[in-house]
Amino acid sequence: MATLTVRDLNVSGKRVFLRVDYNVPLEEQGGAMVITDATRIVETLPTLRLLIQQGGRLILTAHLGRPKGKREPSMSLRPVAAKLADLLGCNVNFADDCIGEAVEKMANALPPGGVLLLENVRYYNEEETNDPVFAEKLAKVADVYVNDAFGAAHRAHASTEGVARIVAKRGGQCAAGLLMERELKFLGEELENPARPFVVILGGAKVSDKIKVIDRLLEKADAILIGGAMAYTFKLAQGFKVGQSLVEKDKTDVALAALAKAKQRDVQFLLPVDNTIVTPVKTEKLDKKGRAVIDFQNPHNWTESNIPDAEEGVDIGPATVAQFSEVLSKAKTILWNGPMGIFEDKRFATGTNAVARAVVDATQKNGAKSIIGGGDSVKALNQAKLGDKVTFMSTGGGASLEFLEGAVLPGVAALSEK
Ligand code: 3PG
Repeated sequence: MATLTVRDLNVSGKRVFLRVDYNVPLEEQGGAMVITDATRIVETLPTLRLLIQQGGRLILTAHLGRPKGKREPSMSLRPVAAKLADLLGCNVNFADDCIGEAVEKMANALPPGGVLLLENVRYYNEEETNDPVFAEKLAKVADVYVNDAFGAAHRAHASTEGVARIVAKRGGQCAAGLLMERELKFLGEELENPARPFVVILGGAKVSDKIKVIDRLLEKADAILIGGAMAYTFKLAQGFKVGQSLVEKDKTDVALAALAKAKQRDVQFLLPVDNTIVTPVKTEKLDKKGRAVIDFQNPHNWTESNIPDAEEGVDIGPATVAQFSEVLSKAKTILWNGPMGIFEDKRFATGTNAVARAVVDATQKNGAKSIIGGGDSVKALNQAKLGDKVTFMSTGGGASLEFLEGAVLPGVAALSEK
């Protein structure tokens, strides 16, 4: 059975409890908190517009950061209300709490098509513990429940799960928003029976973060291309020297098992054949967490299998880029999750940018369907100004990964069926 969506509803005059993921990056500028990337807000606009058009009275709930039950002013959603009003082109009311009489009053006073954003639900610890009493308090303003917060759907919290259960118990409808629907379609259905060849690119720091995804995709993909620091754990597992490169020594057995499964299933499994390596040197400077800042000196390309003891791999090299690009040029479906190197540093963004370019070329020239699994790969594509040239970019980070692992997301499981 398919999940109920906002397109199946008629919310005219009803109070719609709409869970969104407005966990956006903020930066302090001149004493004010400024949103540096509004993608997650922009992506909910189609759902909001549809519900406004239907005459629903919208009560938006979201979290920002991890305030751990405290009213942390830097994590207030107030700047988000202003941004949302700008983007929607209509008034957005803001309540400085998410439960209580004042909130109920504001919600009940909303006219059809009116919008109210509630303050950060994580100002209450009960949100994350999915406290039933707290969920009841939230649900006081909910005639209908809509979840458009794919990015938070892997959390069984009060606003992502508890409220939906309460609304359903009362006989109310619980539907997916349009963004949620798109996320489930591209990260789910589209990858069930992909057009072939189906090529998966995985990067990022840790094998442990991605191993479940690798294992599941080994059942579906024709080729898996590995970059980022996790490639060094695979290299170590194969018996090569990796110098100072970031590795998970206790994950070599897992890496070997993945390599064996790839061989057994005849999946092309490519590891980097060359790397950009550097000499990492500790400086006197400390980062925000009080750790010594590392200066990456003498970057150069390295084509040998063993990395020298004092050196560290920080990006894939040109031969690897050529090999990966060749595989991608034949792909009909592409899934990409994780950067190829330390792309935040321009000197080591070459591999990630080249892969982004190859993904875009396959999409634009060959009609490949390209799906970007959220987090850093989305950041990298946006940084390279290529975000609008792929088929789909997920707004989820942890949620995308868990969904790709095949997990049932609590925020999705709580929705009604058609
Ligand atoms: C995210 O940014 O990935 C989501 O908003 C979930 O946030 P969380 O990891 O703090 O639960």
